[in-house]
Amino acid sequence: MLDLKEVFSGKKRLVGLDIGSSSLKLAELISNSKGHYLNRFCEVPLPKGVIIDGVLADAPALALKIKEIFKLSKCGRKGIVTSLAGSSVIVKKVTLEQMNEAELRDLIRDEAGKYLPFDNMDDVNYDFQILGENNYNPNQMDIIIVAAKKEIVNSYLEAATAAGQNIQIMDVAPFVLETLYETNYEFDNEEIAVIINIGASTTGINVVKGGTSVFTRDFALAGNSITEGLQEKYKITFEEAESIKVEGLPGGSEGDDRDLKSSILELAQPICMEIERSIDYFRSTFGGEDIKQVLLAGGSAGIQNLTKHLSEMLNVKTEIMDPFLKINYNKRNIDVKNLANIKPVAATAIGLGLRKIGDK
Ligand SMILES: Nc1ncnc2c1ncn2[C@@H]1O[C@H](COP(=O)(O)OP(=O)(O)OP(=O)(O)O)[C@@H](O)[C@H]1O
Ligand SMILES: [Mg+2]
Repeated sequence: MLDLKEVFSGKKRLVGLDIGSSSLKLAELISNSKGHYLNRFCEVPLPKGVIIDGVLADAPALALKIKEIFKLSKCGRKGIVTSLAGSSVIVKKVTLEQMNEAELRDLIRDEAGKYLPFDNMDDVNYDFQILGENNYNPNQMDIIIVAAKKEIVNSYLEAATAAGQNIQIMDVAPFVLETLYETNYEFDNEEIAVIINIGASTTGINVVKGGTSVFTRDFALAGNSITEGLQEKYKITFEEAESIKVEGLPGGSEGDDRDLKSSILELAQPICMEIERSIDYFRSTFGGEDIKQVLLAGGSAGIQNLTKHLSEMLNVKTEIMDPFLKINYNKRNIDVKNLANIKPVAATAIGLGLRKIGDK
């Protein structure tokens, strides 16, 4: 696992807090010898402009919302696991000569400028993971480096502190759903799955082989672009468009509803094409490897017929990621009737909620 920050505090029971650009999601998991179960899940909308492309633009507003979500969910825990996303975090795969971990740590510190867009590593939080021997040259090894400016990491830590909370692990968005996948799905060492998170402002793609990331990419095109398209089509506000996108046209006939759904899918087409392009790129650079399945998460995975559309486009079985294959949930706290909608929305928060201090 790749973390930008881990604070050893002795507290073991952490809570997953997914800080998205459109909403905060909190997942409290209980783990014991019988496995894991989701005890609480809560979502609170975030006003536009608080998080912009992964950067915290309005810290007091975020602190207020963090307070609110803890109160609403009645979660009594203090330690948060969250993640950085968007352009605020850099994920880079590099190939280097074989060396041990200590040598590698020194090399990255001294020469990171060669691989990362930072001049001084003193200003940067970073982590790396050795993926293994390079496929083409056994004297070399593949490494993933993640890095983010301390200033950005600290802005989130401070907002949480202002809310009376504590961020203990700062994970990196593309890898969070990998934790959920490892916990929930059965796979063998060679099996390739593509995990795609389609949120409000960002779409993140992570190709995993045997549970380890081999390719990641994200782009700033997601649900908001569809809302904006509907806004234009119906000449309404963003908020109105958001509401009809998720809930349908108020008092609309069956025909209107059908028309709306097909417009939404049509407006999602640029996102689908970008996904297709990324997968084509992966297939061509990684020797046309066979993809077993595509798993969708994020609120925009809820777009009607998107899984069917993508499975035809990509020619791979595509489903909504199911956090509850092996993780149970508390039927008293979780809105069971709404479970199908909760699954993709809660996926990242649940992936975060699975983390423990020192579990790397
Ligand atoms: N049933 C639905 N149909 C279509 N779109 C939906 C549905 N439910 C939610 N969405 C869309 O999903 C998006 C929100 O998803 P999510 O909560 O995953 O985003 P986020 O985490 O806040 O944003 P990001 O990860 O991009 O910063 C919004 O654009 C919303 O309109
Ligand atoms: Mg998100």
